[in-house]
Amino acid sequence: MGVMFSSKQEFSLTQILSKEEIHQRVEELAGEIESFYKEDKPLLVGVLKGSFVFLSDLLRCLPSDYMLDFMAVSSYSGDSSSGAVEIRLDLREDIFQRNVLLVEDVVDTGLTLSYIYRTLLARSPFSLRVVTLLLKVDSYRADVPIDFVGFKIPSRFVVGYGMDIDEKFRGLPYIASIEPSIKAPKE
Ligand code: IMP
Repeated sequence: MGVMFSSKQEFSLTQILSKEEIHQRVEELAGEIESFYKEDKPLLVGVLKGSFVFLSDLLRCLPSDYMLDFMAVSSYSGDSSSGAVEIRLDLREDIFQRNVLLVEDVVDTGLTLSYIYRTLLARSPFSLRVVTLLLKVDSYRADVPIDFVGFKIPSRFVVGYGMDIDEKFRGLPYIASIEPSIKAPKE
């Protein structure tokens, strides 16, 4: 669910996943991915910008060599139910008859994922699967199967570990939920 905060807003952050918890789960996910694909390594497709931190940690936990590519899409603004998403940066790799693993940082309603998934499926990959670090289970309403999930989280806006709000907080090494801080009225 989208949350709009004004740029002059002050925030209060509550850590929900520590650096250590994230690292341990990313290592486990790498193990799951490696043993799932065995010899048929997929092309890893990072969805920019948010997934770049997760993808770079994931890649360093994977024992084999994997090829990388990136996509960027515009996120919807305002009413998310339209699902109108636009490709801003497309793949350089041809994915016809290849195994492809889409790498997402956070899936909320799944509308963005669903658009990317349908776009890539139309290019006839051999297989198309999805890994997301975070899944907001209660908001998810797409029909795309998510094959690897790092953490299921409540439907709250989160930042850190690559995820931002208005380009802020991407560099935090942990993941925090964020809320506008409410100032006590002056007496
Ligand atoms: P969805 O289409 O509702 O699944 O949302 C997809 C996109 O919205 C994600 O790829 C993120 O770019 C952004 N997004 C959704 N929830 C969050 C969040 O909690 N923090 C940061 N970005 C988010």
